[in-house]
Amino acid sequence: MIVQAQDIVTKFGDKVVHDGVSFEVKEGEIFGLLGGSGSGKSTLMREMIFLQKYYSGTMKVLGKDLSLLDEVSKHEMRLKYGVLFQFGALFSSLNVLENISVGLKE
Ligand SMILES: Nc1ncnc2c1ncn2[C@@H]1O[C@H](COP(=O)(O)OP(=O)(O)O)[C@@H](O)[C@H]1O
Ligand SMILES: [Mg+2]
Repeated sequence: MIVQAQDIVTKFGDKVVHDGVSFEVKEGEIFGLLGGSGSGKSTLMREMIFLQKYYSGTMKVLGKDLSLLDEVSKHEMRLKYGVLFQFGALFSSLNVLENISVGLKE
């Protein structure tokens, strides 16, 4: 199993975005997350790549419980991830100037 999510709950203040989300992604499987704008798709992905913390539940990637990893292990996991953003999307961690500079710097 590549990803195993069990009863994931995510909250921003009082707002509950995920209320017990569970799913599994098997090796070689193409897995899509469908949902309306603001339903929590990006947040779920951000949780898998350590950009966002979930409130409760268990998320395992390659058999490792993400909430139990130290910084060194997280770094090792990040080296195994590949993330491709939708065309034209901005990096939320960068400001506008930094975003439009990414292409020039690359
Ligand atoms: N950092 C944050 N702080 C507060 N609310 C957030 C934050 N990130 C996402 N949200 C809220 O969580 C919900 C899900 O957002 P998101 O995962 O971006 O949805 P989707 O990708 O499905 O369109 C939205 O209501 C959004 O406003
Ligand atoms: Mg999104």
